[in-house]
Amino acid sequence: MQENRVILSLEDIYLSFGGVQALAGVNIDIKKDEILALIGPNGSGKTSILNSISGFYRPQKGNIYLKGKRINNIKPSKIAAMGVARTFQNLALYRGLSTVDNILSGRHIMMKQSFLSGFLYFGPALKTEVEHRRQVEYIMDFLELEPYRHQHVGVLPYGVRKRVELGRALAMEPKVLLLDEPMAGMNMEEKEDMARYVLDIREAKWETVIKESPAIVLVEHEMDVVMGIAERVVALDWGKKIAEGTPDEIKNNQAVIKAYLGEEEY
Ligand SMILES: Nc1ncnc2c1ncn2[C@@H]1O[C@H](COP(=O)(O)OP(=O)(O)OP(=O)(O)O)[C@@H](O)[C@H]1O
Ligand SMILES: [Mg+2]
Repeated sequence: MQENRVILSLEDIYLSFGGVQALAGVNIDIKKDEILALIGPNGSGKTSILNSISGFYRPQKGNIYLKGKRINNIKPSKIAAMGVARTFQNLALYRGLSTVDNILSGRHIMMKQSFLSGFLYFGPALKTEVEHRRQVEYIMDFLELEPYRHQHVGVLPYGVRKRVELGRALAMEPKVLLLDEPMAGMNMEEKEDMARYVLDIREAKWETVIKESPAIVLVEHEMDVVMGIAERVVALDWGKKIAEGTPDEIKNNQAVIKAYLGEEEY
């Protein structure tokens, strides 16, 4: 019963860059109906985990399974098409494109790799295009991006750009959504908005767009934010999992407190 709820599994992942051991034997199960937070000090391996899942990094050892299918050594674009969407720690949008076109690009990333892609320009193309538009509109509405529809994202405030990036990821109809510090660099109000959107993704009635809410892996530095959003937390330090549990358990975990005490900003 429990096992079936696992959508993504990391098994004993080792990743190094030259002499730097970024991940040293990480095991994590992500359930399909949860928001899991990854926390840890700078350089503890949070982004490396997301990059390994999405295929940007190739772990030297270990396995990653998406719905039971091994996805090691699969190209990032293929993994995206299999239902793993992400946002980046540093924004990665098309700055010269409008908000609506950036979100539409998420649809194209999804479709490009699909089995039918070769046929899309002919028979079913029109219907598909209408469907894409409909889903994009739903996401524009969900993230309240309507006021920025035709603006180039390069000129938008930072907080809004982060929202567009989230919209593009959602447009890919992900089964797993990886968010790398979606609130970093935001002011208080923007952070609260983003926290609400992340929570709403799980709550939303997605009949018109995403058939099923995605599992969410949220990398976040700030404990306060994590405590307010995540159902479960995995804490990392030096590429290793040092604790796992509910936000309350993690808040009081000695190993976690110790790891963070080593950081000047805590
Ligand atoms: N492409 C890379 N080349 C070399 N070293 C890397 C690379 N990516 C990550 N590392 C190293 O791996 C370790 C883990 O980095 P990672 O970016 O995963 O940490 P993080 O927890 O996301 O940190 P932050 O909170 O600063 O974003 C660090 O020592 C980092 O310098
Ligand atoms: Mg990082």
